[in-house]
Amino acid sequence: MRTKIFVAAVGAVMALGLAACSGGGAGAGSGSGSTGGSSAAAGGLIGVAMPTQTSERWINDGKAVKDGLEKAGYTVDLEYAGDDIPTQQQQIDQMITKGAKLLIVASIDGTALANQLQSAADKGIKVISYDRLIRDSANVDFYVTFDNYKVGVQQATSLLVGLGILNADGSAGKATGPFNIELFAGSLDDNNAKFFFDGAIDTLKPYMDKGTLVVKSGQTSIEQAATLRWSQETAQKRMEDLLTSTYSKGDKVQGVLSPFDGISRGIITALQNAGYGPTIAQGLPIVTGQDAEIASVKLINDGVQFATIFKDTRKLADQAVTSASAFMAGKTPEANDTKSYNNGVKVVPSFLLQSDIVYKDNIKSLLIDSGYYTEAEVKAGQAG
Ligand code: GAL
Repeated sequence: MRTKIFVAAVGAVMALGLAACSGGGAGAGSGSGSTGGSSAAAGGLIGVAMPTQTSERWINDGKAVKDGLEKAGYTVDLEYAGDDIPTQQQQIDQMITKGAKLLIVASIDGTALANQLQSAADKGIKVISYDRLIRDSANVDFYVTFDNYKVGVQQATSLLVGLGILNADGSAGKATGPFNIELFAGSLDDNNAKFFFDGAIDTLKPYMDKGTLVVKSGQTSIEQAATLRWSQETAQKRMEDLLTSTYSKGDKVQGVLSPFDGISRGIITALQNAGYGPTIAQGLPIVTGQDAEIASVKLINDGVQFATIFKDTRKLADQAVTSASAFMAGKTPEANDTKSYNNGVKVVPSFLLQSDIVYKDNIKSLLIDSGYYTEAEVKAGQAG
């Protein structure tokens, strides 16, 4: 990592700034070193606020954004907030105090950063919302993310494919049901959760209306399906409760819509503990996911989780760096969507990336051939 940084750093001035930064570590908390480097680095300081290190995806995102910005000549203060809202607020306040010229923020609670963003705006600091939209503030300048509604459509599609209602090419499958399913959603304070759920429900509804799919618990609203902070433990507990309340008299659940791999693993644990599976071939329900986290890719490879959605964090990080560089050069980043993301105050110009459904039979083409994971990592269920 250090070698990579130094190879990328051309010129003595840059090398100085980066030496200070790499000495401070990859932003696990203090961000020390970054401020010292800011005056020396050609491009100036950029603050990168990430929500949590409990999920591997945000670790990958943080590292990719930091590496990309450093290669582009900036000094980076990368901070993780342990999913704690006041911590994230403080970290952003500190980035502003340290002299950050631009902020890239993946929020915990999208509605809780208006004060921080106002201070940023007062100092002329541009703000890029990363993956999750920051709401209720006019001071969000740009949004880089995936087509989140479509991610929800893909999650529901993978559920339909797993149940045999659709084929992977989208044509009608042989299965007619009825199938018992349950629905999980993400954290309600994350704007993405609603987009994922809307995309999924719009896709599943025709089958629910026909009776092909039955949400046996009756819990069909996003409020009932939500999982605070996208927590694996919370999801496991809710699945256990559903099994007790709805499936204790001999009915079986056949599919579970899950919006995130961590949630999927909680659901799978609850199902296996209740005697399902342990694999799909042995009766485990079809469980969907998102993020192609390595632990879940292994489960897909082993026939346990059915599918996930691959959102290439390398591309998202690249897009964040491109947009940041445009702002830093006094230009406006290029948007490809100027309609979809109203944050409650304004429509935020966005750059949306596309995602893919990962099934067992395309792990190789999507994830291994693209260099996202090695075959050994998929087998082990661990990156690195
Ligand atoms: C969402 C994000 C998902 C997933 C989830 C839990 O905001 O779009 O990809 O990572 O958070 O971390």
